[in-house]
Amino acid sequence: MDQQREKFSSRLGFILISAGCAIGLGNVWKFPYITGQYGGAAFVLIYILFLLILGIPIMVTELSVGRASQKSVAMSMDVLEPKGTKWHLFKYFAMAGNYVLMMFYTTVAGWMLYYFIKMSAGGFVGLDKDGIAEIFGSLLQNPTLMVGFMIAVVLIGFGICSQGLQQGVEKITKVMMLLLLLLMVILACRSLFLKGGEEGLRFYLTPDFSALKEFGIVDVLFAALGQAFFTLSIGMGAIAIFGSYIDRSRSLTGEAIFITILDTMVALMAGLIIFPACFAYGINPDAGPSLIFITLPNVFNAMPGGRLWGSLFFLFMCFAAMSTVIAVFQNIISFGTDLTKASRKKVVSINLVAIILLSLPCVLGFNILSGIQPLGEGSSILDFEDFIVSNNILPLGSVVYVLFCSMKIGWGWDNFMAEANSGKGLKFPKSIRFYIQWILPLIVLFVFIMGYKSLFF
Ligand code: PHE
Ligand code: NA
Repeated sequence: MDQQREKFSSRLGFILISAGCAIGLGNVWKFPYITGQYGGAAFVLIYILFLLILGIPIMVTELSVGRASQKSVAMSMDVLEPKGTKWHLFKYFAMAGNYVLMMFYTTVAGWMLYYFIKMSAGGFVGLDKDGIAEIFGSLLQNPTLMVGFMIAVVLIGFGICSQGLQQGVEKITKVMMLLLLLLMVILACRSLFLKGGEEGLRFYLTPDFSALKEFGIVDVLFAALGQAFFTLSIGMGAIAIFGSYIDRSRSLTGEAIFITILDTMVALMAGLIIFPACFAYGINPDAGPSLIFITLPNVFNAMPGGRLWGSLFFLFMCFAAMSTVIAVFQNIISFGTDLTKASRKKVVSINLVAIILLSLPCVLGFNILSGIQPLGEGSSILDFEDFIVSNNILPLGSVVYVLFCSMKIGWGWDNFMAEANSGKGLKFPKSIRFYIQWILPLIVLFVFIMGYKSLFF
């Protein structure tokens, strides 16, 4: 039944394409606006701490499950779980996460596509700060336009998926990830020298712990937790699938660290671009999801050759977003083909329509349905869907992966160790079992429960 599984053609291919799944809108769109909403540098510090103490080990567990089972999340636990246990039910929870993620991700990816086209057509030339803000405002008021771009994203995503792994995804992603990183360094240099930008640097880099009080320490922790898991794509089998595409020549800890470093570099770089610009142009960093769209065109307008740089930036962002979309679509397609007897073609067509329909509430939430504010005054359907994924499914799913890999009634510690550590490279330390099995899940659950309490009670 299972044919020879496609493999990546090189190690660099694996790293960059997993980084391609990790690096996406979470880094360049979400990281800056969440950081802006929660007061800057102190938030960044907690976020990095969570990446180190939670994110990396969780990613190793997830990659191990993928590599050992050689399956996507649709079947990975079925293969590895001890007889008679019910871990495999996790797939439904994880799959719900994959779908809800796509329900808003396609919309934001559509914004990127729109900005690429607008920027290259010269649509921002000569506009001042207010003119630029208005362009985003009128985009949100135009459901037809947004639906159009969202559908384009879905079609391109499934289109590339049907080209196969190495042909389509690996080749394109490799080049684009490197170009994106390079371009961001250039843009950061430019933004750093904007007049009035120093204030932004201070906001971004000098921790002010009174900000924690102001925003509520628990809320800041909860937001940082969600963002750390979101940015690494951990907790719902999105990264696991890449584990299933590699062989055992390298141990997984080093790979997880490498992916985390690349992802973090892109996020931190995005902050270096955005915050000086916010302060230089008098844009409030707590603007929310619109932040980069109302900030960045100002930076480009102030640069020689800004139209070209800006177009390239949004083009690379489209690729970063698409590489994530493709990873998640792969997961969704395997789920369909592994669980039903339907052909791949049929699964693709059904999901194509389903994801377009499921993406509509997010789009309409900014206009026709803007009265629906599920998380309180001023919140949107996008915020709500993001909350479901980042603050619920990913943390809880991550705990499942960790327990599955450390508990006797799961796949178990010894199997996990053997898998994670087979191959050359950094080994996962045996001595931290207690931390992994008990402390790590408790930290996640503690932040999760306290976060809920503070949000709703
Ligand atoms: N890590 C992706 C990003 O930063 C988002 C993502 C989350 C992808 C969860 C897959 C799973 O854009
Ligand atoms: Na990311």
